[in-house]
Amino acid sequence: MRSKVTIVGAGFVGSTAAHWIATKELADVVLLDIVEGVPQGKSLDLAEAGPIEGYDLSITGSNDYADTANSDVIVVTSGAPRKPGMTREDLIKINANITRECISKAAPLSPNAVIIIVNNPLDTMAYLARQVSGFPKNRVIGQAGVLDSARYRTFLAMEIGVSVEDIQAMLMGGHGDEMVPLPRFTTVAGIPISQFVSEERLQAIIDRARKGGGEIVNLLKTGSAYYAPSAATVQMVEAVLKDKKRVLPCAAFLEGEYGLNDIYFGVPCVIGANGVERIIELPLNDEELALVKKSAEVVSSSIAALKAV
Ligand code: 2OP
Repeated sequence: MRSKVTIVGAGFVGSTAAHWIATKELADVVLLDIVEGVPQGKSLDLAEAGPIEGYDLSITGSNDYADTANSDVIVVTSGAPRKPGMTREDLIKINANITRECISKAAPLSPNAVIIIVNNPLDTMAYLARQVSGFPKNRVIGQAGVLDSARYRTFLAMEIGVSVEDIQAMLMGGHGDEMVPLPRFTTVAGIPISQFVSEERLQAIIDRARKGGGEIVNLLKTGSAYYAPSAATVQMVEAVLKDKKRVLPCAAFLEGEYGLNDIYFGVPCVIGANGVERIIELPLNDEELALVKKSAEVVSSSIAALKAV
């Protein structure tokens, strides 16, 4: 039987995620949005590319949650994007209302789905989605680490002049400017990154990766990134649908891991059919732990702000 993925939000991230899913022929897609005509139009357009691109899937647009029933994965992209000068936290109130509405309608119709949260502030919205859905923690995941590490890997590959495919990198923390790229766990084809880049250049690249989302917002001026965020999301969707057991940095609910509790936070996870199947605890040194703690404080205050709205 074919898998089914619901994407809530037919904006740039949602529709581009549908595009990646189609080109990889991963699953039938329901693209849902409150705006009438937009999900229907985008899905029909995407379906009409099938004969050219050679994918054969059901891609439908809808304004009705009933069409999302029995999805294997629900991706939530709907919400306001950042504009220049805004932090992801500025979006809490508006996006919390949207997330609450989407999850309360979609989750009961697909009680066995894995939910992937993409809207910002990412870690906080994942926290809310878990509460609203009542799903077990492993089946509510926040995307971000895959995107953030992809940016870090891209900048490293540009700097070193090697293929991005040969840069492996782990990164932790909230999806914000305090995220924690981990040079000790970054290699070029298994060779420590320190062999290729000076400490000074590495720090400049880490800084650029941390602010990677803002760099795109400032260039676009009217919205935020969507190619890399949607590609990152679909890598997670694929890991779930194919039960791949990929080791990916994702926002997971922590209960004591890394000394953190009651928080969604970016950590290395094993992602398979059951969502977050395992959290990997890296042996961090004191300096890395201090950076993780600082990032966790930002996420905790965002979750506290959520509780106050
Ligand atoms: C980003 O980092 C939109 O938060 C997203 O581009």
